[in-house]
Amino acid sequence: MIKKGIILAGGKGTRMSPLTKAVNKQLLPIYDKPLIFYPLSILMLANIKDILIIVNKGQLNQYKKILPNGKNLGIKISYLEQNKPRGLPDAFVIGENFIGKDNVAMILGDNFFYGQNLTSKLLENTKLKKGAKVVLHKVSKPELFGVAKINNNKKIKLIKEKPKKFISDLAITGLYFFDNNVVKFAKKLKPSKRGEVEIVDLLNVYKSKKQLSADIIGRGGAWLDTGSVEDFYKTSSFVSAIENRQGFKIACIEEISLNKNWIKKKQIIDSIKFYGNCEYSNYLKKLIS
Ligand code: DAU
Repeated sequence: MIKKGIILAGGKGTRMSPLTKAVNKQLLPIYDKPLIFYPLSILMLANIKDILIIVNKGQLNQYKKILPNGKNLGIKISYLEQNKPRGLPDAFVIGENFIGKDNVAMILGDNFFYGQNLTSKLLENTKLKKGAKVVLHKVSKPELFGVAKINNNKKIKLIKEKPKKFISDLAITGLYFFDNNVVKFAKKLKPSKRGEVEIVDLLNVYKSKKQLSADIIGRGGAWLDTGSVEDFYKTSSFVSAIENRQGFKIACIEEISLNKNWIKKKQIIDSIKFYGNCEYSNYLKKLIS
């Protein structure tokens, strides 16, 4: 069972400047909560309670204000800084001590997932013992993502970062599951032409050893973008539509903890005090009434 997870939540967010000049992108709102709540909820739904959040140098205090240490959620949140965006695999170099001898999941701080069966899929993926696993989803603009070409047996034939020429419409989402070798492999990577170590290079190391597998989120699931201001609005509308229709919140992290019995009524009351008088607190009140 994978019990540790990393949220990579640094990056300069230049595409969203000036919004991201003072505040990290992952702390900006997707409808009624900060973006980071969504990837955090995904790790929690996967029963991952030991979580490392990697943030930009100098932005630690922003994050600690909203997610101090995980106590109110019955989980453990620790932080490390990345001093410059050296690429996604850098997370495993920074997180070496956190990972220790264990396997690890990683989710990018700007990834939004939603859909039926998602939780059971996540739990299935945390069973990974050896190798690496990626999560794929069909998109209409594959040139914007890492993509994977698979054969009829769902075996990965080819992976490529943002290919200019079409090879497949299956994007590699920002949710990955790795065995402990990831630290060793990540350390050996050389930066690409754009000066970053590349996640596809890391995945290709596993692929060359025939240890890379894929899970596919079908059309009933949603994997949405949060790359640009326009994406933020579209994803916010999506959350708003579902939450207001159903009366349930997406990515209410306290609700997930309560349902999993990681916390009791007392911690919810503490959270209500922490957030203050707001709509989110009203929702928490309803959970314990
Ligand atoms: O979202 C899925 C895509 O994420 C994958 O399909 C691609 O294969 C993968 O390379 C990545 O592509 P992006 O172009 O979206 O990566 P970006 O550089 O925007 O970084 C994604 C998140 O990770 C973002 O929230 C910032 C954070 N980040 C990124 C880098 C490179 C860091 O915290 N540190 C870093 O060094």
